[in-house]
Amino acid sequence: MPATRLRNALSLWTTRTVLRAHSLFGDPLAQVISPSSAVPLVDAYRRVRLAGPMARSRLGAWATARYSVVSQLLRDPRFGVVAFAGDSRGFVPQPRVGGDALVHPINDSFLSLDPPRHTRLRRLVAPWFTPRALRARTDRIEGVVRRRLDALDTSQPVDLMADFATSVPVEVICDLLGVPRPEHERFVAWGQVLATALDGLFELRELDRLHATMVEMEAFFRELTDFRRRNPGDDVVSELVRSSGEDDQVTAHDLLATSELLLVAGFETTVNLIGNGVLALLTHREARERLVADPGLAENAVEEVLRHDSPVQFTARVAKEDLVFHGARLRRGEPVLVLLSGANRDPSVFPDPDRFDVDRANARDHLSFSGGVHYCLGAGLARLEGAVAVRELFTRFPRLELAGRPRPRATKLIHGVRDLPVRCHEPAGAVAPPSAAPA
Ligand code: HEM
Repeated sequence: MPATRLRNALSLWTTRTVLRAHSLFGDPLAQVISPSSAVPLVDAYRRVRLAGPMARSRLGAWATARYSVVSQLLRDPRFGVVAFAGDSRGFVPQPRVGGDALVHPINDSFLSLDPPRHTRLRRLVAPWFTPRALRARTDRIEGVVRRRLDALDTSQPVDLMADFATSVPVEVICDLLGVPRPEHERFVAWGQVLATALDGLFELRELDRLHATMVEMEAFFRELTDFRRRNPGDDVVSELVRSSGEDDQVTAHDLLATSELLLVAGFETTVNLIGNGVLALLTHREARERLVADPGLAENAVEEVLRHDSPVQFTARVAKEDLVFHGARLRRGEPVLVLLSGANRDPSVFPDPDRFDVDRANARDHLSFSGGVHYCLGAGLARLEGAVAVRELFTRFPRLELAGRPRPRATKLIHGVRDLPVRCHEPAGAVAPPSAAPA
């Protein structure tokens, strides 16, 4: 085994072991991030919240799960993201995958930059996500959802994750980026590798998989960028190519990182919003009946899914200077695990927080899209896709039901299910065959 591989293997083993030990000794931060911890995340969040506004971990980091503290911290310019770039934004040492030459869609994109560079790059793509731009795309999104519903085989159980929750966001984001031939299988595989890597890398084979994925993604986006340079269209990549030509501070590396970020952020998250939403509605009979009777409820139902079962559970920040925050003394460079989903279960803001309630008046106040300068750029798009997807699905198949037990995903930061076996039954308004008609 070459020396670097051996070093990496040793460092990953140490990371796993240290986290496991702290998690076993009850450190709530370790219980959230350790891959071997069996403590349910909501229980770990509760423990962090009860430990105070800022809970100190033995790992040399902090964690917070109180709503007011989380929302304040995300907007405080004394906290940034930069120190995480290059180490998977983690709390533990991580090898730099592929060296500096290879584009990492998270660590090299504006998600991992502080202002002013963050502002400059975010501005390039922001016009595609304004409420006006989204209104102009609504018909296309509804078209994608309806086509996917038409394609479902209603004669037997189907996996709604594969056949609907995944295929809709892939098609929507590819349309936005100007990908001429969406290669669903490849994108899904990339999404899964990157979602796993967001938790941190703990095994050499995960590192190898991430490396191979980054190589493939980069080749794909280089080809797409070249194609759009020669064949510009009405899409984000064409626009990025145009604007990078006019701004010498935007490099080819930035262009690739931004396009890759949009693909990754734009579909793996929304896949799980739709999946978690359908699952919540199938397991809360009354909520489902309310939605079937009043499809206008879809928007608030999606907000409640985001609050109760967010696809993105947490993020991280780092102190940019020595500072005092809510009584905690942080030294420059100390990381904070920001438990967005913990804040969403804070009973001082959301009464009876563990209850899934599609009528919750303040469901939209959740922090699942983060806050401050990194507030999710695609929040409007995700909300729109989620609401159209659940509204159309339950309007078309009001008797939709589970056909098996969905298996949870193994990832922690990204929360969802691997599969969602359902029976659709005949569409609403379909004429029943004579033999099935009531006597
Ligand atoms: C339910 C779906 C989604 C969820 C829960 C979600 C969540 C988040 C969160 C929590 C962040 C901020 C992370 C931080 O503060 O460190 C973020 C950032 C971001 N999201 Fe989303 N997201 C979703 C969908 C989307 C979609 C559909 C797109 C675009 C097509 C998108 C694009 C982005 C981008 C570009 C950023 C980086 C913003 C910045 O750093 O300025 N997201 N998202």
